[in-house]
Amino acid sequence: MTRTPSSTGEEIYSIAIALLDADIPKNRFTIMGIDINSEALKQAKTGVYNQRNISNVPHHLLTKYFNKKESKYHLNNEIKQCVQLKTENIFSPSFKSLGQFDYIFSRNMLIYFDAETKIKARQVLESLLSNKKNPIYFGHADLF
Ligand SMILES: C[S@@+](CC[C@H](N)C(=O)[O-])C[C@H]1O[C@@H](n2cnc3c(N)ncnc32)[C@H](O)[C@@H]1O
Repeated sequence: MTRTPSSTGEEIYSIAIALLDADIPKNRFTIMGIDINSEALKQAKTGVYNQRNISNVPHHLLTKYFNKKESKYHLNNEIKQCVQLKTENIFSPSFKSLGQFDYIFSRNMLIYFDAETKIKARQVLESLLSNKKNPIYFGHADLF
C-alpha cells in the first residue's frame, strides 16, 4: 500500500494503527509513504506530535500506541517500523521503480496542480496499481 503525499506522517501512521488495531499481523502488509518534501518526511520519521496533531485520535489508541513525554506524543516504534518513508517526486522516473501497490491513497497533493498535471499525476499513480480495478483513494479536495 502506498500513501502519497505523506507529509509529516499523520495519515500514513493512522493507516498502520488502524490495521494493527484490527489485529492484522505486521507481516501481512507493507506501507510506503512518499513525499517530495524531505523536511516534512524528516519530521514524520520522528513520530512526535503535539496536542493539536492528535486531537482527533481516540483516547484508547493514544494510550495504546503513543507515549506522552511532557507536552508531546511519541508514536511507538511498533507503528513506526510498519512504515517506510521515501522522498520522491511522483513525476520522477525513480517513482515508477518503487514497485506495485494494492492500494494507493493520495490526499491534498493534486490541489497544487493545474488540470493537465492532475491528469498526469493520476496516470502515474494508476500505473503503480497492482490491480487496475482497484480505485485510488483521493481526498475530497482533489477534484478533477
Ligand atoms: C497539502 S499537503 C497534504 C498532506 C497530507 N496528505 C494532508 O492531506 O494533510 C501536500 C503535500 O504534497 C506534497 N507534494 C507536492 N507535489 C508533490 C510531488 N510532485 N510528489 C510528491 N509529493 C508532492 C507536498 O510536499 C506536501 O507535503
